[in-house]
Amino acid sequence: MDLLTILFAVVLSLGTTSAATLGVVQTEGGRVQGKNIPLGLFRSVDVFKGIPFAAKPEILEKPKPHPGWSGVLKATKFASRCMQISVLQTSSFGSEDCLYLNIWVPHGREVSSNLPVMIWFYGGGFMVGGSMGANFLNNYLYSGQEIADRGNVIVVSVGYRVGTLGFLSTGDSDLPGNYGLWDQHASIAWVHRNIRAFGGDPENITLFGESAGGASVSFQSLTPHNKGLVRRAISQSGVAFCPWAMNKDPHKVALQVAEKVGCPTDDRMAACLKSTDAKTLTMAAPRIVQGSPDAPGVLHLTLSPVVDGDFLPDQPANLFHNSADIDYLVGVNNHDGHLFTAQDVPSLSKDKTTPVEDIRRLLASYTKEFGQAGLDVAFAEYTSTWESSPSQDSIKKAGVDIGTDYIFLIPTQTAIYLHADNSKSGRTFSYLLNEPSLMAGPGKPYNDWVGSDHADDLQFVFGKPFVTPKAYADRHRDLSSYMIAYWTNFARTGNPNQGNLKVPVSWPEFTRSGHQFLEINAKMNESSVGQEMRLRFVRLWTSTLPSLQSDGVTHAQ
Ligand SMILES: *[C@@H]1O[C@H](CO)[C@@H](O)[C@H](O)[C@H]1NC(C)=O
Ligand SMILES: *[C@@H]1O[C@H](CO)[C@@H](O)[C@H](O)[C@H]1NC(C)=O
Repeated sequence: MDLLTILFAVVLSLGTTSAATLGVVQTEGGRVQGKNIPLGLFRSVDVFKGIPFAAKPEILEKPKPHPGWSGVLKATKFASRCMQISVLQTSSFGSEDCLYLNIWVPHGREVSSNLPVMIWFYGGGFMVGGSMGANFLNNYLYSGQEIADRGNVIVVSVGYRVGTLGFLSTGDSDLPGNYGLWDQHASIAWVHRNIRAFGGDPENITLFGESAGGASVSFQSLTPHNKGLVRRAISQSGVAFCPWAMNKDPHKVALQVAEKVGCPTDDRMAACLKSTDAKTLTMAAPRIVQGSPDAPGVLHLTLSPVVDGDFLPDQPANLFHNSADIDYLVGVNNHDGHLFTAQDVPSLSKDKTTPVEDIRRLLASYTKEFGQAGLDVAFAEYTSTWESSPSQDSIKKAGVDIGTDYIFLIPTQTAIYLHADNSKSGRTFSYLLNEPSLMAGPGKPYNDWVGSDHADDLQFVFGKPFVTPKAYADRHRDLSSYMIAYWTNFARTGNPNQGNLKVPVSWPEFTRSGHQFLEINAKMNESSVGQEMRLRFVRLWTSTLPSLQSDGVTHAQ
């Protein structure tokens, strides 16, 4: 062999081995072909965009199976987002035909098989959101590529209906609601039936999601309908107990929507709503209004899941036997409430002075059902570490803590305790992300002490510090690699410490007696393991305040 032949042979073998790809894949609906993206020597990812997992849904009906197609579906373009209101709430965009999913499959020298599978559910308050391409400008926040490549897992992202089309309910069998949750369930069942053909292990499915997506993961693990389909679950900043995650009076919202679209509010209401066009229904959603300390914004989110006697046969607290064998990794960001509370209490911003009265008013809104006594005891708790003449930082931090506790942290602790208390083989892992905000610091818009705000976890889980390195520092790449390691190890083995990737600190399981959790940040070390997260405040909200109830009515949780 001459040198040229040898060189050719090398080039050819490189060419063939680095192009490991699934090619055309046979699914239950027909054949699909994605696109292979080379990522380096012997490394590539097959990306499938816009595969239908259900037919175009009928308005306010459960999803139905897709009729299928002939020929090869070119799965190279994202589908539309599910129809939703625009940011300004003056128009709608997206499509009714939105029950599609995307799949990222990593390959080495050989085509992959039997990989763990992670299914992503986006957030957006059950009102908005999408995983079909760019979320903002050119930034496709939810690309599964980094997680798939680094963690050697399959990533799937799905579309589900939101707003009126996803969650309108009359609170009875006329319009039971939860359509968006049924969509998610249909996507999980599709993945379970089809993912083997993509190189996935149907017995190794992990759900993950953030905010309303995290709450969705919580509902999907509590429903009896996913028995045998889901092995593990990750909820980031959202669980079923969040005050915005369930609507306790859906009939009232249905009446408002009916009036807006000109439907009768008697027994003809459901039929009339079903025959109303999708755009009109979407625009009839209750407006999301600017909050204030006396009427915080999250209390206005009313198009959300309901106890319908089917998908959710009972209150979430009574459904934990259904997740007894599901491994659950769940947590919050230490300033998850900042985004919302800064809207409700504008004086919290860096350049303004916050009167103590603003904090008291915010707390009064959240403790309303517990009366003056409730406000007094809660106020004493949140101000217990204040100086005799409290600094602005102390006052502002208390405001953010109140928002974080009420909207996210305490409901999340409730879910963690219940999961651990009811588990059989399912393990529980609890975290608190407390990386300083990229928006905080001298010359930046946020107060210097602001930690991880709502949605700050997303960029690290999806590997953005690697995708757009200039926007981040090395510490953010460290943190991103830690989170991807914990998350994908967990998807692979049910234990965030064990799997393909090395982790910086061993994350102990949350146990019934130890209540351990892990503080996650770029500088984490052995002392990042804690116990009994915010126990004083967990006690305040779950025990002290409810015991003060004097009106005899049973309240949330
Ligand atoms: C999941 O994947 C891991 C790693 O490939 C494997 O050890 C395990 O047996 C798989 N199945 C289940 C049900 O965990
Ligand atoms: C762990 O991190 C904390 C906070 O950054 C630091 O104060 C402490 O010295 C570190 N401990 C070790 C053992 O490195």
